[in-house]
Amino acid sequence: MERTFAIIKPDAFAAGSAGKILARIYQEGFKVVGLKKLFLSKREAEGFYHVHRERPFFGELTDFMSSGGCIAMVLEADVAVKKWRDLMGATNPGEAAEGTLRKEFGASIGENAVHGSDAPETAAFEISYFFAGLELL
Ligand code: RTP
Ligand code: MG
Repeated sequence: MERTFAIIKPDAFAAGSAGKILARIYQEGFKVVGLKKLFLSKREAEGFYHVHRERPFFGELTDFMSSGGCIAMVLEADVAVKKWRDLMGATNPGEAAEGTLRKEFGASIGENAVHGSDAPETAAFEISYFFAGLELL
């Protein structure tokens, strides 16, 4: 079993899509090991996405991620990292395949409904950024 880190981003949370997204997560066979609702500060969002700090979209991205509530989750499954990335779909919802979450719930490359770790090492950092071990028993 592997763990990955996921966020229902502020656009999807504000739209009331969290329930539908969670239903898909269970349907696809993930175990939800951790889950909490948060409202990230700008600084917390910057720390989370620090790998992108030199990118031109960093300001926009961290403004968006701190613009409203979101839901942070730890998901467990066989090859969870890839399985969750596949369910999310392409970064740009316009290029996301039919049946993916970003196709259904994403509006633009900036507001794309969900986040997922891109590798097991990234997942380890992201999980520990949001959750203490005691919250994942
Ligand atoms: P995420 O980290 O949120 O799961 O998304 P991702 O791996 O599919 O994409 P990544 O390259 O890590 O980019 C992180 C987030 O930055 C925003 N972005 N905007 N305006 C742009 O060209 C642009 N490119 C990326 C997206 O919201 C993306 O999810
Ligand atoms: Mg990424």
